[in-house]
Amino acid sequence: MAVLDDIKQLSQVGVGLFRSPGALLRELVLLARSNPENYYEFLGDDVLEAQDQGFELAEKPLWLNLGYWEQARTYPEAGAALARKLAQAARLGPGDVVLDAGFGFGEQDLLWVGEFDVAKIIGVNVTSLHVEVAKKRVEARGLADRIDLRLASATEIPLDDASVDKVVALESAFHFDTREDFFDEARRILKPGGRLATADCVPYLGEHPSGLINWLGWRRWGVPQVNIYDRDEYVRRLEQHGFKDVEVESIRHHVFPGMHRYAEQRNAGVAMHDARVEISEADVQSCLGVEVWAKQGGLTDYVIFSAVKA
Ligand SMILES: C[S@@+](CC[C@H](N)C(=O)[O-])C[C@H]1O[C@@H](n2cnc3c(N)ncnc32)[C@H](O)[C@@H]1O
Repeated sequence: MAVLDDIKQLSQVGVGLFRSPGALLRELVLLARSNPENYYEFLGDDVLEAQDQGFELAEKPLWLNLGYWEQARTYPEAGAALARKLAQAARLGPGDVVLDAGFGFGEQDLLWVGEFDVAKIIGVNVTSLHVEVAKKRVEARGLADRIDLRLASATEIPLDDASVDKVVALESAFHFDTREDFFDEARRILKPGGRLATADCVPYLGEHPSGLINWLGWRRWGVPQVNIYDRDEYVRRLEQHGFKDVEVESIRHHVFPGMHRYAEQRNAGVAMHDARVEISEADVQSCLGVEVWAKQGGLTDYVIFSAVKA
């Protein structure tokens, strides 16, 4: 039956693919390469697919996460709220030297320097478009001495042992090949007692997504299959890789419904700046929108992890 379901779903996805030769070719390239850089170059300047405006609007915030919608009602507010949530879990504060793995367009780094007064951020990212655009934005704000952004992988961080106070990864660690190699790198570069914090997408507790459709989703987004495990297993692996005092907070009810309501408006033609979402208690309780993720990749939990170098 699972195979039949896969075929049914695949045929529905296929309808969209065959609408234009360009779309089909793009999907084939994404699947063949399975590389985050290819996926993010295709996304362009917007977190939602097919909303790329080619960097025409200088004032457009360039968040690339699903947002934290507990209080936020616009996408820029939700992107910033998620960055704050992670910063609080990481205990970012004045004097901190921070390694940021997967910084997108650098929006979060500008916020962490501005609101949390961290001393220095070194960012690594494998998407050259992100590095180029983010560096320009940092320079334009006169912050190049405090935010140093580099083309490098979170699994091979160009920093000395025991050289940073905090390591953070905002909605990026599911891409790392592998996430456990990143844990090792984070542990290596953290000072004794330093803290790692991630905002990460994982399967819901006890779920083991499998099958062709999920596999295609992972390949398309550049998510290694070895990273597909739930939050309990995540904690075990953090501990195996030399972390202790692990804190775990699932925030899925304040992520998926807001993004769902926001995407509804954008897909109906409302601009990012005009989209204000209404999220009902029922939306939150039912975790509205999570079914989209259940169908493609099975990453239906959204979790903030924080742990100390043992
Ligand atoms: C979903 S985006 C999140 C961007 C940003 N943190 C935000 O919240 O707006 C994931 C980011 O991780 C980066 N990334 C993926 N694999 C990476 C790796 N191995 N090392 C460093 N960055 C990576 C991508 O290029 C992208 O910038």
